[in-house]
Amino acid sequence: MSVWAKHQVFEKNSMILLVGILLVVAIGGLVEIVPLFYLKSTIEKVEGIRPYTPLELAGRNVYVREGCYNCHSQMVRPLRDEVERYGHYSLAAESMYDRPFQWGSKRTGPDLARVGGKYSDEWQRAHLVNPRSVVPGSIMPGYPFLAERELDMRGIAEAMSVQAKLGVPYSPDMIAKAATDVIAQATIDDPGQTDLAKRYPKVVARDFDGDPKRITEMDALVAYLQMLGTLVDFKSYDRKANVR
Ligand code: HEC
Repeated sequence: MSVWAKHQVFEKNSMILLVGILLVVAIGGLVEIVPLFYLKSTIEKVEGIRPYTPLELAGRNVYVREGCYNCHSQMVRPLRDEVERYGHYSLAAESMYDRPFQWGSKRTGPDLARVGGKYSDEWQRAHLVNPRSVVPGSIMPGYPFLAERELDMRGIAEAMSVQAKLGVPYSPDMIAKAATDVIAQATIDDPGQTDLAKRYPKVVARDFDGDPKRITEMDALVAYLQMLGTLVDFKSYDRKANVR
């Protein structure tokens, strides 16, 4: 049988052709994808990245629940216009503890990957309650109920243990202290008073919702927004890249 005759088997039978195509495409895919799971450089280690505090994680869950990702991305692409508007392009390591990731696919509003520290807590609260009160032409919906709803503390330790199962390095100790860490971060101004900062370096603790008596979903969401993009010190990151 000549090569041509062998090839006729594929050309005359669409099912065999289909299986052949799938086989070839699968090999190509495996060659591209499998090494990513073994190469250490796939996610380069970056100083400063840590898992979310229980309060930030709770805020992140509110963000996901309310569907903020439908209008906001969290990924600054390495293009000049994006970098000039939002700051340093996103690193893979910055979303290594994001499950599910929040890169998003649509920007009705701006990218939020580096929004932490851009505004005061007061601005964030006013904006979330009624965006038009601070940005007159805004089409973002208001979320006034977040300031009224007490944060559901029971779910947080559970959410952390699910994240731990997915590979986020939450220790049993961190999970056991979830509730006290939430209270510490949302009520005190000095995380040094507890060992919160030991578990979560660079943690910022304060009364995020402006209501010291209660811990609300607003506390959690504002704590989350205010830490977005703040963990990596890009001055030292860039310097290291240049030395190499
Ligand atoms: C219907 C689309 C839409 C949804 C849903 C939405 N936003 Fe927005 N958001 C916008 C638009 C448009 C802007 C720009 C105008 C403004 O600042 O209000 C914006 C602006 C923002 C800003 C200011 C960003 C900056 O750099 O100035 C933050 C923070 C923000 N949104 C957070 C949220 C959060 C948190 C949620 C979910 C609770 C959310 N948004 C849901 C459309 C949306």
